[in-house]
Amino acid sequence: MEKANVVITGASSGIGKALSLKFCQDGKSKVLGIARREERLKELKRQCSESFEYLDLDLSNPSSAEKVRDYVAEKFSPLGILVNNAGYGLYKGVLEMNTEEVINMTNVNFVVPILLIKELSPYMEKGSMVVNVLSGGVFVLMTKLPLYGATKMAFHYASEALKRELKTKGIDVLNVYPGVVETEFHERAGGIQTLKGLSPEEVAKAIYDSIKKRKKNLFIPWYLRLAKLIFGPALPSFF
Ligand SMILES: NC(=O)c1ccc[n+]([C@@H]2O[C@H](COP(=O)([O-])OP(=O)(O)OC[C@H]3O[C@@H](n4cnc5c(N)ncnc54)[C@H](OP(=O)(O)O)[C@@H]3O)[C@@H](O)[C@H]2O)c1
Repeated sequence: MEKANVVITGASSGIGKALSLKFCQDGKSKVLGIARREERLKELKRQCSESFEYLDLDLSNPSSAEKVRDYVAEKFSPLGILVNNAGYGLYKGVLEMNTEEVINMTNVNFVVPILLIKELSPYMEKGSMVVNVLSGGVFVLMTKLPLYGATKMAFHYASEALKRELKTKGIDVLNVYPGVVETEFHERAGGIQTLKGLSPEEVAKAIYDSIKKRKKNLFIPWYLRLAKLIFGPALPSFF
């Protein structure tokens, strides 16, 4: 992989933290990590030193995308890789969620990632990449995490469209569809704390390798590809 400036959202834990460490320790990349828990970001800074910078931002606020853009324009351009990884779910029915919960989750999982692509793509040159962390669950109805599934499905749809739009600027898009990963995600969502799955390090390595190979999709574990083939909307282009 070439020397690159990399923006990673959700860098404070789980997949985003593991991926930040992978990039900041490869001796070529510089990472701008974004999340709310500043202590965790400071700890990453201690581990990575010069190759890690951070912004503590709440991505449920749409204006956060402009703050990231201003930082990138001033200190982090050209941007080689944008990883839209921040996201969360709530084990609640749609009708059980209050207005704030609906708006905040939609903003973090769908609206702000789109705004970040819009705001940051002008600072990305030909050959750069956008990586969108979606979910293997988008191809089935996640009845325990319904709004989460809807936001990820919306992002999947937009990401398919963006693959075409960004291609005209020479920017590639990698869609990542993970299965269960052993992070803080499920506990924070109010769900099962003991779900067995992949480690965040395994997922981060697979994302890193897929970026290097310029893949368009990453299903991890691989058999989630079958879920897309069997249940997933093919989204043929229509007009
Ligand atoms: N774990 C799984 O089984 C699984 C499966 C499929 C897909 N995914 C997806 O993988 C991605 C990473 O999740 P993970 O499993 O690594 O979970 P995680 O450990 O809970 O990490 C989530 C990250 O998102 C950040 N985030 C959440 N809300 C935010 C907000 N309002 N503003 C800024 N940052 C925010 C968190 O940072 P702060 O709280 O510090 O702000 C944290 O760094 C998510 O998009 C998730 O949907 C996870």
